Amino acid sequence: MKSKIRVAASLLAADFSDLSREVKMVERAGVDLLHLDIMDGHFVNNISFGPGILNSLKAKTKLPFDTHLMIENPQRYIREFARAGSRIITFHIETARNPRKLIKSIRKLDCSPGIALNPQTPVSRVKPLLKEVDLVLVMTVNPGFGGQKFISSSLAKLRELKRTLKSRQNLKFDLEVDGGINRETAKMAVSAGANILVAGTYLFQSKEAKKRIKELRCEG
Ligand code: DX5
Ligand code: ZN
Repeated sequence: MKSKIRVAASLLAADFSDLSREVKMVERAGVDLLHLDIMDGHFVNNISFGPGILNSLKAKTKLPFDTHLMIENPQRYIREFARAGSRIITFHIETARNPRKLIKSIRKLDCSPGIALNPQTPVSRVKPLLKEVDLVLVMTVNPGFGGQKFISSSLAKLRELKRTLKSRQNLKFDLEVDGGINRETAKMAVSAGANILVAGTYLFQSKEAKKRIKELRCEG
């Protein structure tokens, strides 16, 4: 039986000098999605890459692009990220002036809208929007850098979101978890309700990505 758990490889942990090779490596190893961390040096203290990189990579892979915008003024850039091949576009609730409008604009661009919350942001901030999104991303590190330690207090938020999802029939969003994911933390996140696991360091800094992907899906 195919596992219900999907794995998204975060390109942030890849070797930037050979992205095409790195993407093919995780694709062959069996990931479900390519997670693209977009950082602007304002919302987070790091700068990563922009839509040009996605544009170049889209011809090299069949993996759906799961774009995670850690930028101020996301409204201004969604069109470019949609054109660059994004399947999912997730923005941070902390950055959105008019989240409802932003969700609608993302849908109009034929992408699936997702909403992300920082570790300090309570679930109550996104509750009114849950029926409008396809994905909720719960950060388990403070956004900005790969390779950080998993913040386990985020598990309570995953549980709360999963409870809400089960209790209301009009909701159907994926629950994605991002930051510090490895074999152990993946188990905790999945039992708290996550069904998409983002992993950067754990997959790219390993020679055994295939085995690790299976472990993350709880098949290994
Ligand atoms: C952090 C990013 C994550 C990060 C995860 O701001 O959103 O996607 O790349 O990296 P690891 O798996 O190394 O914690
Ligand atoms: Zn991310």
